[in-house]
Amino acid sequence: MCVLKRCYCSKMRVIADVLLCHDDELEGRRIAFILYLVPPWEKSDGGTLDLYSTDEHFQPQQIIKSLVPSWNTLVFFEVSPVSFHQVSEVLSKEKCRLSVSGWFHGPSIVRPTRHIEAPLPRSPHIPYDHEILYEWINLVYLDMDSQAQIQEEFEERSEILLKNFLKKEKYQLLCEALESKDIQWSSRGPANKRLYETAEEDSLPDVLKKFLQFLRSEALFLLLSNFTGLKLHFLAPSDEDEDAEEGRAADTARHSSPKQAETEQHADSNPHQPDNIPGAQDSEMQNSSGTPLCAGELRRWTHGHYTLVHDTQATEFALDLLFYCGCEGWDPEYGGFTSYIAKGEDEELLTVNPEENCLALVYRDKETMKFVKYINHRSLAHLKKHPNRTGFWDFSFVYYE
Ligand SMILES: *[C@@H]1O[C@H](CO)[C@@H](O)[C@H](O)[C@H]1NC(C)=O
Ligand SMILES: *[C@@H]1O[C@H](CO)[C@@H](O)[C@H](O)[C@H]1NC(C)=O
Ligand SMILES: *[C@@H]1O[C@H](CO)[C@@H](O)[C@H](O)[C@H]1NC(C)=O
Repeated sequence: MCVLKRCYCSKMRVIADVLLCHDDELEGRRIAFILYLVPPWEKSDGGTLDLYSTDEHFQPQQIIKSLVPSWNTLVFFEVSPVSFHQVSEVLSKEKCRLSVSGWFHGPSIVRPTRHIEAPLPRSPHIPYDHEILYEWINLVYLDMDSQAQIQEEFEERSEILLKNFLKKEKYQLLCEALESKDIQWSSRGPANKRLYETAEEDSLPDVLKKFLQFLRSEALFLLLSNFTGLKLHFLAPSDEDEDAEEGRAADTARHSSPKQAETEQHADSNPHQPDNIPGAQDSEMQNSSGTPLCAGELRRWTHGHYTLVHDTQATEFALDLLFYCGCEGWDPEYGGFTSYIAKGEDEELLTVNPEENCLALVYRDKETMKFVKYINHRSLAHLKKHPNRTGFWDFSFVYYE
C-alpha cells in the first residue's frame, strides 16, 4: 500500500435519513474512514453501513455485510471500483447518528472504465387510430380548444399535469388489474442507479396490455404532439418556423419546494466528468434524425425504492410521460416523487408528485437529469390505511422526436 499523504477532507455529518449506494471513488481518494459517535445503537435503529458485492462489470449486486454503528468505533475501507456501500435508513426517532468521516488521499490509480448499460429498447408507434383515445381518455382532453390551451401552457412551462386523465371506469379497471397476483414483478438494479420493480409484460392481464398499447399507439403520438407542440408524428405540424423554439427546455419551473434540494441523492462518484463517458454521447445521437420513438415500462414502487442521478446517465431532449395508479392519499413526505435537477447542480427544477389518475408531461433538455426520491419508512403508514396496498404503480414512458 502506498504512502498516505494527508487527511484531506473530514467533516461532521449528521445522517438524518439515508445515504444510498455509492463507491466513494473520486480523484485521489484511497481510504475512507468513519468514526462513530452514536449513543447505544441497535440494528433495529437502522443506519447500518451496508457493503455490497459486485458483478463482473464492477456494479453492485447485493448487500453482503451490514455493520451496526457503535460509539468510538473506527471503520475504514479501501476506496476501489468495488467499494459500494450505503447507509441504510435511520429508523430511530430519538437517536442521532453522529459520525466523523473522511478520506485519506494518495496518488490516483487507474480505474476500470465504467460500464455503460443498454438503455430501454425504443420503438416507433404502433398503428392504432383515434378510436383508442375515445376508449380511454376523459373526453375533455380530446376537445380541440382544451388541446390548444394545454399546448399554450406547455410551451410556456415545459410541463403540465392533466388530472382525471382517463375515464373513471377505465381507471378503476386499471387499478384493479394492477392488484393481480399473476403479474410477475422483477427487481431492477443495479443499486447505485436504481431499485424498483418492473412488470413482465407477458404476465400482464389484458387490460394492462391494452393500456401499454395505448401508450405506444400512433393516435397517442399525435395527441401528445397536439398537447406539447413537439413533432412526434410526421403529420404533426412542424414548429421549425415558429419562434417559440427556445425556452421550452425544462429550465422554467422553479416553483418546487426547496426542502428537497438539500437531499444528497447522487452516487457521488466522479461528479466532475459527466461528459467524458464514451457511449453516453452515442446514445444521445441514437435515432435523433429518424422516426419518433418511445420507450417505457410499468413500475411498482414501495418502501426502500429509488432511482439515482449517476454519471453514465444519458441526458437528451425528450418528453417524459408519467401516469400514476394506486397512490390515493400518498404524501410527498414518503418520497416516491420524481425530481428534475440541472446537470452538475443540486438545484431542483421541478417535482412531480404521485397523484391518482394524473398524467404528467415534462419536456427536458440535455442539461436535465431526474431521479425518484427514496421511499422512506413513513410510507408504511400509508399501507395501514390501505391494507391491500404494497405501494403504488406508475407507467413511465419517454418519447423522442
Ligand atoms: C390534433 O390537432 C389537429 C388540429 O390541429 C386535429 O385535426 C387532430 O384531430 C388532433 N389530434 C388528436 C389526436 O386529437
Ligand atoms: C433506430 O430505430 C429503428 C427502429 O425504428 C431501429 O431499428 C434502429 O436500430 C435504431 N437505430 C439506432 C442507431 O439505434
Ligand atoms: C382487501 O382484499 C380482500 C381479499 O383479497 C378483500 O376481501 C377486501 O375487500 C380488500 N379490502 C379493501 C379495502 O380493498
